Amino acid sequence: MNGRIRAVVLAAGKGTRMRSSRPKVLHELCGRPMLWYVLRALRDADIVEVAVVTNADVLPHVEAIAGDAGHTATDAVLQEPQLGTGHAVQVALAQLPPLGGARLLVLNGDMPLIAADLIARTLSPECALALVTARMPLPSAYGRIVRDGERIARVVEAKDATQAELALDEMNAGLYAFDEATLRRTIAALRPDNAQGEYYLTDTIAAFVGTGERVLPIDAGDHRSVQGVNDRVELAAAAAALRQRLCEQHMRAGVTIRDPATTYLEPDLELAPDVSIFPNTSIGGHSRVGAHSEIGPNTRLRNAQIGEHAVVSDSIVVDSTLGDFALVGPWAHVRGHSTIGTGSRIGNFVEIKAANLAPGVKAAHLSYVGDATVGERSNIGAGTITCNFDGTRKHRTTIGKDAFIGSNSSLVAPLDIGDRAATGAGAVVIRDVADDERVVGNPARVLPKKP
Ligand code: UD1
Ligand code: CA
Repeated sequence: MNGRIRAVVLAAGKGTRMRSSRPKVLHELCGRPMLWYVLRALRDADIVEVAVVTNADVLPHVEAIAGDAGHTATDAVLQEPQLGTGHAVQVALAQLPPLGGARLLVLNGDMPLIAADLIARTLSPECALALVTARMPLPSAYGRIVRDGERIARVVEAKDATQAELALDEMNAGLYAFDEATLRRTIAALRPDNAQGEYYLTDTIAAFVGTGERVLPIDAGDHRSVQGVNDRVELAAAAAALRQRLCEQHMRAGVTIRDPATTYLEPDLELAPDVSIFPNTSIGGHSRVGAHSEIGPNTRLRNAQIGEHAVVSDSIVVDSTLGDFALVGPWAHVRGHSTIGTGSRIGNFVEIKAANLAPGVKAAHLSYVGDATVGERSNIGAGTITCNFDGTRKHRTTIGKDAFIGSNSSLVAPLDIGDRAATGAGAVVIRDVADDERVVGNPARVLPKKP
């Protein structure tokens, strides 16, 4: 053995039990496709040489998923048609150059709860085959481990098992470390003479045993870590377990989570210590939240960059940035690469889109601020609308600093409102307003300067 490790992920199955037009391994849990988690676990175990066996529907997605999971180069091997897990490995080995004595880690692509430490344990013994097994509650559809005394004799698939074999509670997890050369010699002899008419990878186990190769069991410990996902019930169960795991990671790192059962976190978030998350809150994409900020309840963050001591409640923030001490909500929607400055306040029923709000801006009630720039400390009165769309094109509104926009102003873009300028309640502003100018009415006209 030369110490080199290659992983082959089996992800070509049709996943018929999902009853879906979407391939099984592309179904998502906590914001990432099932396949992502398997690839991330391999990455966490420092396995960089990876091949994914796919069907034509999965193939176009493999590179992006692998890249997002942290891999730089991943081989995708097309298996058409899918004649079973043994066939999948045959196809992979036919396409991949022999590595001369390397270990070949083979794992099912439908085990999203798999963790790096189990992968490392599977690779630790030097033997022709290390096979991960788990004790599971019966009944289950897993392959049963049949032992001959202490030793593993073979794996029998549930559909081929006798009643006595079905009563065995030690299951085949779907994670194997093979000596590559021995597997290459063995795999060609597989025959599809079984209940499903498939080439079973699991038949290699009896073949190894028959030629006197050492087959070692690796105990998975908690069977949930190797749970396969075959239908949507199992998908929901796996997602719940992942959700719990993600919440626990962040709680251990100092985040307060009031109700983990209704907190929906995705992988790869940056949540600082002393962040508090209130119930019914989702945080996803590449979001970051600074220390002492409070998120939720009833809030969704996606690709949100949030400073320290900020508060977001009952609101949605997407692809946007909030400064320290910003207050958003309740019932606000911030989107479209907006920036909310330090200490700014976005209140009830306010939508902010592609807008840049300087520090200290207030838009506290019932407004739409889109395609706009607002200067420091300006106040956007209740009901203000930036009329950014003329039916064909979007236009920008610029408001200077310390401006006062009266309640129910309509700001018809393109528009430039100066520093310290003011608009009266109900003004329909169709022309630029200079610094210190005051406008009122519909259409808005300039009031004489205050004496
Ligand atoms: C498989 C094992 C079973 C084990 C269980 C653990 C076999 C024959 N059985 O059963 O012993 O207990 O996993 O979860 O291996 N795939 C392909 N190409 C194919 C068929 C399947 O790539 O032609 C992929 C699937 O996408 C899936 C994985 O292989 O990710 C396992 O296939 P699946 O049909 O789910 O096998 P199980 O019946 O769960
Ligand atoms: Ca399966």
